Amino acid sequence: MKAKVTAIVLAAGKGSRMNSDVPKQYLTLLGKPVLFYSLQAFEQSDVDEIILVTGSGEQEYCKKEMVEKYQFSKVTHIVEGGAERYHSVHHGLLSAIDTDFVLIHDGARPLISVDVINKAIETVEITGACVVGMPVKDTIQIVNDACEIESTPDRRCTWIAQTPQCFSFELALSSYNKAIECRDTSITDDAMVARKYGDARVTMLEGGYENIKVTTPEDIPVAECFLKMR
Ligand code: CTP
Ligand code: MG
Repeated sequence: MKAKVTAIVLAAGKGSRMNSDVPKQYLTLLGKPVLFYSLQAFEQSDVDEIILVTGSGEQEYCKKEMVEKYQFSKVTHIVEGGAERYHSVHHGLLSAIDTDFVLIHDGARPLISVDVINKAIETVEITGACVVGMPVKDTIQIVNDACEIESTPDRRCTWIAQTPQCFSFELALSSYNKAIECRDTSITDDAMVARKYGDARVTMLEGGYENIKVTTPEDIPVAECFLKMR
């Protein structure tokens, strides 16, 4: 029997680094909201359903202005997120029932492609845990509190972690349940949770450099430029 795959698309952040009145997921890129693009990619991919996680009081807006307006038929739930990204992920996982694999994706990454999503599904079905990323182009330096360089990791071993981050549902839910129970506030990434609380081996899967996270104002023209190149 074919495995069921659920995407959890996160859009419950405040976007404080964007310095905009409107949360960044609703800003427009070439006339359509940032969030539209990742929902469209998952809609066109091999995922079976999409759970959209939004900010408090934004569910109705997302239902009308995203799901109904653009006819995203795979969105089955629109749930409220939490204070931190990991709370939002946990809320998404708690509403995903009867699924085999979850793909956790930042709604602020509009450049994710259908091909990379499908490649991630193929990989997670084999390995049980994988993260989309890219090799770091620059040298990374680890600095101390005084901003002095303390060490230099071998560049061949440094990758940028992007999303989707993909796991068997059982692994994701049990690891997140433990992390939440331990009130672990150090979490910035889903692979961290799966490794620390699920003892998982997580495969890094090469995606694309264009899969940027729209974070600060200068990311907007960059994202638009990549969209135009498609
Ligand atoms: N996110 C979320 N719930 C939160 C925080 C973040 O669903 N409590 C989502 C964001 O909407 C975004 C993704 O997680 O799609 C990545 O987070 P980030 O880029 O940090 O977005 P924000 O937290 O919104 O931005 P900032 O950190 O600048 O406030
Ligand atoms: Mg944030």
